[in-house]
Amino acid sequence: MSLEVDVLTIFPHMFPGALGDSITGRALATGLARLRAVDIRDFATDRHRSTDDYPYGGGPGMVMRPQPLVAAVESIRRPSSRLLQLSPSGRRFDQRLAHELSTEEHLVLICGRYEGVDERVRLATGAEELSIGDFVLTGGEIAAMVVIDAVIRLLPGALSSSEAWRDESHSSIEGLLEYPQYTRPVEFRGLRVPDVLLSGHHGQVAAWRRRAALERTRERRPELLSAEHRAELERLARSSAEPGEPDHGRASGD
Ligand SMILES: C[S@@+](CC[C@H](N)C(=O)[O-])C[C@H]1O[C@@H](n2cnc3c(N)ncnc32)[C@H](O)[C@@H]1O
Repeated sequence: MSLEVDVLTIFPHMFPGALGDSITGRALATGLARLRAVDIRDFATDRHRSTDDYPYGGGPGMVMRPQPLVAAVESIRRPSSRLLQLSPSGRRFDQRLAHELSTEEHLVLICGRYEGVDERVRLATGAEELSIGDFVLTGGEIAAMVVIDAVIRLLPGALSSSEAWRDESHSSIEGLLEYPQYTRPVEFRGLRVPDVLLSGHHGQVAAWRRRAALERTRERRPELLSAEHRAELERLARSSAEPGEPDHGRASGD
């Protein structure tokens, strides 16, 4: 049984790139694995086929819009698909996970660009966020190649006996994970942008983001929290019961 990999990207020409050579190139050529780059832009329904928009709440850069990405995911996903979204805020990719992914039938990798991806892509698709390390790349394509490379070489038959991986060695920076990002529309698949981000009140937006970042870091990477961060979280919990994570009310609309 071969592994199928679909990469969602706005730069499909980047693939297979480095994966086309050597062990991975051989695995692709012999059908051990199949790699397809899916152009996210093909799924944009607006006049300009845009894939990004300004961030709600202000700030630099652009955010990838949810509509084209979710449409692309829905066009290719099947019940056995494993959805992975490349993000510096995700679960850290490691060799254990590479082994796990090498047993899957179908991997779908979502590549972000700009300031990242509207939070509702993850919420609407259930994609798992995956980081290749505590650093920030320009886009998810190289990170996707890292993951695909590590996974393909573990497929039975990918390595010759002289290249065997069994004896290979494998195995933070201080800082908070990023707060959730949102762009238009205000409602998507019944999920609303938190009201504070629509308020235009810079102080409140900054406070919400700070708290969401602290709470997300505590949930996902508690070892990154300093004593000062923990004290700040305690102060926040005492001052208000409101959580940093948004309460996505159900509503209609795309
Ligand atoms: C410039 S980055 C966005 C970073 C985001 N503003 C943040 O601080 O978390 C653009 C895209 O590159 C990819 N990316 C960057 N660094 C990555 C990493 N360490 N692991 C996985 N993907 C990464 C993600 O797909 C991300 O959406």
